[in-house]
Amino acid sequence: MRILVTGGTGYIGSHTVIELLNNGYEVTILDNLSNSKELVVDRIEEIAGKRPDFVKGDIRSKEDLLKVFKGQKIDCVINFAGLKAVGESIKMPLEYYDNNIYGAINLLEVMRECECFNFIFSSSATVYGDPASVPVDETFPVGGTTNPYGTTKLFIEQILQDLYKADNRFNIAILRYFNPIGAHPSGLIGEDPNGIPNNLAPYITQVMVGKRDHLNIFGNDYDTKDGTCIRDYIHVCDLARGHVCAIKKLLENPGVVIYNLGTGKGSSVLDILHAFEAAYGKPIPYEFAPRRAGDITANYTKVEKAEREIGFKAQYDIMDMARDQWNWQKKNPNGYSK
Ligand code: NAD
Ligand code: WQD
Repeated sequence: MRILVTGGTGYIGSHTVIELLNNGYEVTILDNLSNSKELVVDRIEEIAGKRPDFVKGDIRSKEDLLKVFKGQKIDCVINFAGLKAVGESIKMPLEYYDNNIYGAINLLEVMRECECFNFIFSSSATVYGDPASVPVDETFPVGGTTNPYGTTKLFIEQILQDLYKADNRFNIAILRYFNPIGAHPSGLIGEDPNGIPNNLAPYITQVMVGKRDHLNIFGNDYDTKDGTCIRDYIHVCDLARGHVCAIKKLLENPGVVIYNLGTGKGSSVLDILHAFEAAYGKPIPYEFAPRRAGDITANYTKVEKAEREIGFKAQYDIMDMARDQWNWQKKNPNGYSK
């Protein structure tokens, strides 16, 4: 079975490609390298012992997509390709709607034309907005997104539901990721953000390698055990495995299925900091700073549906996540740039 992984040289995509190769799938990556490097393909080969096909291309280009689909039979598409920076999306909404929504529509049109009907979509816990309670499950209402990035996920989910209603040859898995962190234990691949990291874990590891002098913790007056926000951090290798579980589900022709992928455990910002300190063996400097606009107090998931229906259960805890992300950053202080 051949899987087309769009955005496959990115953070979550690269880890998923390894998981796919290790499970005997053949893989073609299509990525425009707007937020990743081709070197990732070498690293994937080094880890998995097999090299995925790589095509430099854009999901917004029918020509690029047809090159892939006409060259080989694609059995399933996992669409990681997209822009994902929340703050940037507020400044550049048109670019986000174009890249993420137009890109997804274009990809689905080519899939239909080429008779490939299995689709896995990288959605996000952000579609729940500020949930009325935690843990959230898949029946919670979606909406109330606070930025164009989140809204692209919400709209694409709706487009996928409408598409299936009109054409039930499609089988679609919508995977709502919670907070992926960590890296492959080899330290050969990991998250490599451009500029100042927006997200917590890469910011912490940049403090650890001396690129930033301290972590700003955004808010210590939330209604939580230690005043800092609670999230459901999931190891990127667990998340990657969730995609293999989803492919198997699609082969049962389920129509549209939705799964939250998390660990079910909420951790505070200070819990995460302490996990990285344990990996580091010394304290990490931090200061409390004002709340960040758009942050919600708490979000973590119920895990029962994914466990019951696709056999997915996260194995790693935050200590493993911190150890592996630190290992990656330590070995690659400048990410993929030497
Ligand atoms: P990433 O930026 O590391 O990977 C995305 C990849 O897609 C990059 O390699 C980029 O070059 C490529 N890309 C972007 N636009 C493209 C286009 N038009 N055509 C072809 N390639 C394109 O991001 P990631 O963290 O690996 O996220 C993967 C997906 O998961 C994204 O859709 C993201 O929105 C979603 N997601 C991420 C998180 C997270 O916290 N990282 C959480 C929930 C959902
Ligand atoms: C986690 C916690 C911050 C940085 C975002 C997107 C979401 C999803 C995952 C894609 C929060 C705090 C952070 C820092 C801090 N992405 N923090 N200092 O905001 O839960 O989710 O990424 O879909 O859509 O919104 O993740 O890692 O940015 O923040 O104190 O320098 O860490 O306030 O409480 P978030 P995050």
